[in-house]
Amino acid sequence: MHNPLKILFLAAEADPFIKVGGLGDVVGSLPNALLALNDNLDVRLVIPFHTSIRTDSFDLHREIFFTIPRAGVSVPVQVFHTEQRGLSVYFISGAPFTQSSNVYDTDAGLDGEKYVFFSMAALELARQLNWRPDIVHANDWHGCAALYGIRRMQSDPFWHGVKTLLSVHNLGYMGAGSEAALTAYGLPPLNDPDLPWWGQQVPMPLGLWSADEIVAVSPTYAEEIQTSDYGCGLESFLRSKHERVSGIVNGIDVVLWDPRSDSVLARNFSVDQLAMRAENKKLLQTQVGLEVSQSIPLLAMVTRLDQQKGADIAFSALRQIADIEWQAVLLGSGNPDLEDAARRLESDFPNRVRAVLRFDGKLARQIYGGADMLMMPSRYEPCGLAQMIAMRYGTVPVARVTGGLSDTIDQEVTGFLFKDASPTAMAEALRLAMLKFKSKDVWQGFQKAGMSKDFSWNLSAHQYDDLYLSLSSRKP
Ligand code: GLC
Repeated sequence: MHNPLKILFLAAEADPFIKVGGLGDVVGSLPNALLALNDNLDVRLVIPFHTSIRTDSFDLHREIFFTIPRAGVSVPVQVFHTEQRGLSVYFISGAPFTQSSNVYDTDAGLDGEKYVFFSMAALELARQLNWRPDIVHANDWHGCAALYGIRRMQSDPFWHGVKTLLSVHNLGYMGAGSEAALTAYGLPPLNDPDLPWWGQQVPMPLGLWSADEIVAVSPTYAEEIQTSDYGCGLESFLRSKHERVSGIVNGIDVVLWDPRSDSVLARNFSVDQLAMRAENKKLLQTQVGLEVSQSIPLLAMVTRLDQQKGADIAFSALRQIADIEWQAVLLGSGNPDLEDAARRLESDFPNRVRAVLRFDGKLARQIYGGADMLMMPSRYEPCGLAQMIAMRYGTVPVARVTGGLSDTIDQEVTGFLFKDASPTAMAEALRLAMLKFKSKDVWQGFQKAGMSKDFSWNLSAHQYDDLYLSLSSRKP
């Protein structure tokens, strides 16, 4: 390795250390995929040392101790380190994190303190290690203060010319409530009419303003965030910067997600052994207490229950198609109103619906391996991972044509897409899917098409690698 390209990768969560949602999956696999692809990359991951991180399953070493200034006071930072499949991972600890037991708090001010501290500590860590990154790659708003900080420190020789990249996994979460923390850590409000007034002291807009490259987690989402329906008020700004906005669809870890070896399935199977999949459907129906039948289509939803994911749309759509035969299993938790709506659906259709209102990784896998269709009526979906996992496991997605769903599902080839975020549009798509389901051959055609697609990180990691290269050679 000569003169490797040094990438400082910042994120709030990373599997297997800590995972709340899809961001954790992505950060848990992309850096490793990059290292595997190009041995001239030196990627180092920095995440917060959340109190819920369990340290009994990996070797953690105390790496370094230093302080950073906050409103004239020195705040202690402790950094721990581990190596995971050749990847250096640093964990930032300090008062804001030891005092909070959640990865994301409902108190926005608290989250502001945590993630501005995290961002500034990560930058100081690089300096302390005397490891000057070529590129700082932040993910979502949690590392945005670092990008803004780098822009403001261009007269500092250590940061001068360091390039920045921001991956947008969800534009809707911007880090509002961080104003006081930003000021305290020496990051005053921006004063640039390019950004809307309300974004001058909010991490996500500041990160977008600062970043040399903005990467949405799918090409369609990259387009969508430049429109008023999806831009969260930043669409004009993003349109004006469109030449630095692109989209790279996420991959999934195809070793972790493999129906040929997944140990929680009743039967492992490959694309050539679809008949064996019936065992998994049978086990799933038995487990959740639904009638065991191969001919009744088994619909599923595996999701966080929140507005974004559109579970309410699916619940109403199912009511609209009560005249035909189906079963549904819903797995997920979240918004109490949506949990109630799921319970009501179950009590109105006691022989057809099971609502399992919790996070259950094992059952999720058994659903992917045994259900017939996966419902994803998302109001917006930057990328979405569940549809890719479903296709890999022979479950056919019925999804709204938005963001990554439209980039990863081929209409009437690997799945079914509908346009409007309405129960009627979804009901229509479900009816079509169930019509196709009646012919076993036709259905297996859908399953095989989905299972044959390459959802590995291969392609996407290449695209990030290319972007790193072109970014690093760009003039400051
Ligand atoms: C967010 C998005 C989801 C995406 C994930 C990983 O959770 O809502 O669509 O798949 O980030 O990028």
